Amino acid sequence: MFGLRVAPVNRGVPFDISVNGKSIPAYPGETVAGALLAAGINIFRKTYEGDRGRGQFCGMGVCYDCLVDIDGRHSQRACMTAAAPGMMIEVPAVLKEPAE
Ligand code: FES
Repeated sequence: MFGLRVAPVNRGVPFDISVNGKSIPAYPGETVAGALLAAGINIFRKTYEGDRGRGQFCGMGVCYDCLVDIDGRHSQRACMTAAAPGMMIEVPAVLKEPAE
């Protein structure tokens, strides 16, 4: 299963990360944000005011729109964190289920 990734690219051996208790695939060198987006999760959190969805915006650690909880650490930037085998991600505002 490739999800939203471009199929013919050789990405190495996939591993699983947990997102809100469900496993999704990630590849070596991929960020947490990349794995989430490839799994069809594009809203990571909601704003305090207005309850508006936020996800990856800048992709380079500046906007803080991509905050998720990673291995028990609150509000980590998904775009600046490399995915690792067994990582436990909590996405507070999952509005879309990961692609099956
Ligand atoms: S997308 Fe901007 S800090 Fe992560």
